[in-house]
Amino acid sequence: MLEEIEALKEEIQQFSITNSDELEEFRLTYLSRKGKIQTMFSKMGSVPKEQRAEVGKAMNAAKNLAQDKFDSKKEELTRRQARTVGATDDVTLPPPPLSVGSLHPLTRVLDEMKDIFLRLGFSIADGPELEDDFHNFTALNFPPDHPARDMQDTFFIRKDDEEGRQDLVLRTHTSPVQIRLMENQEPPIRAIMPGRVYRNESITAKSYCLFNQLEALYVDTDVSMAELKETLIMFAKLMYGTDVKYRLRPSFFPFTEPSVEMDVWWDKGGDGQWLEILGAGMVDPNVLKAVHLDPDVYTGYAIGLGVDRIAMLRYGIDDIRTLYENDLRFLNQFI
Ligand code: DAH
Repeated sequence: MLEEIEALKEEIQQFSITNSDELEEFRLTYLSRKGKIQTMFSKMGSVPKEQRAEVGKAMNAAKNLAQDKFDSKKEELTRRQARTVGATDDVTLPPPPLSVGSLHPLTRVLDEMKDIFLRLGFSIADGPELEDDFHNFTALNFPPDHPARDMQDTFFIRKDDEEGRQDLVLRTHTSPVQIRLMENQEPPIRAIMPGRVYRNESITAKSYCLFNQLEALYVDTDVSMAELKETLIMFAKLMYGTDVKYRLRPSFFPFTEPSVEMDVWWDKGGDGQWLEILGAGMVDPNVLKAVHLDPDVYTGYAIGLGVDRIAMLRYGIDDIRTLYENDLRFLNQFI
C-alpha cells in the first residue's frame, strides 16, 4: 500500500499544469469525489490495523501534496491571466485600489495613551523584556515566597554564556522599569514605560501568555495621593470621554502603599460590567530604599495600566486572544 501511495505522489508531482484545462483535468483526476485520492482513502478498510497509522499519514501527505499543487497552480494561472491584456480590456480605467495596511488596535490605543501622558508632562522610557529577579521582584518589595515567583506565573529563563550562568525571567510586569529609572536618574522623575509582559497562565478569553502594560511613575519631594487620584480620573476622562463611569477600589500591591485599582463601566447596552483597567498606588518606602532614595525626602506614585483591557473596552472586543492572532478578518475591522 505504501508503495502505491509513493507512486501516486510521484505521479502528482510529474503532472504538468500549464493552463486551466489541465488544471481542471488535474482536479478531476486526483481531487474530485471519484478521483484517485478518494479511491485510495476508500482502501483504508483493507489495511491491517497495525499499519493504519502509517498508511493514513502517507495518504494524508499525498492528499496535501495534490491540494497544495492545485492551489498554487490555480493562483499562478489567475495571476497570469490578470496580467494579460485582452482586446476587450479598457486600459484607461483606473487600477483597482491597493489594499493598504492599518495600525493594530493595540498600537492605536497605546498611541492614545502615550499622547495623554505626554500632555500631562510625562516622558517615555523603556527597559528589557528579559529581567533579573532583583528588578522584577526583590526591589519591588516582593517577599521571597511570593506566589508570583512561582513556576505557574513566571517564565524562567536560564542563560549560559561566557559570563557564566544566570537565572532570568521574562518580565511579568513593566514595574521593573521603574526600578531601572530610579537607579539611573535623580528625582524628579515623571515617565511612562510601555511594553510587553509575559505570564505563564492558562490561555483563555481573558488571559493570554503575553500582553501589554503601560507603567507610569512620578517621584519627587511632595507627590501626594490626591495628585495620583487626579491623574487617574483625568486619564479615564481623556481616554473614554468626560461622561465615563469609573470607580476606585482599595487594593494591594507589594510595591505601593496605599494601593488602588480603577474600574471602568463597560456599557454593553443592558448588561454592562465593571472592567479593571489599572492598578496604582503610592510608591512603597521599601522600594525607594531598594534604589537608595531616602523615603523621608521623596514620595511618588506609580500606575500600571493594562493596554489590552483598555483596547478591549475601547473597541468592544471580548476575547484577548484576537489581539494576538493576526487574523486579517479581525484586523480589517480597524481600517
Ligand atoms: N505591576 C502590577 C501588575 O502587573 C500593576 C501595577 C499595579 C503597577 C500598581 C503599578 C502599581 O505601578 O502602582 O499587576
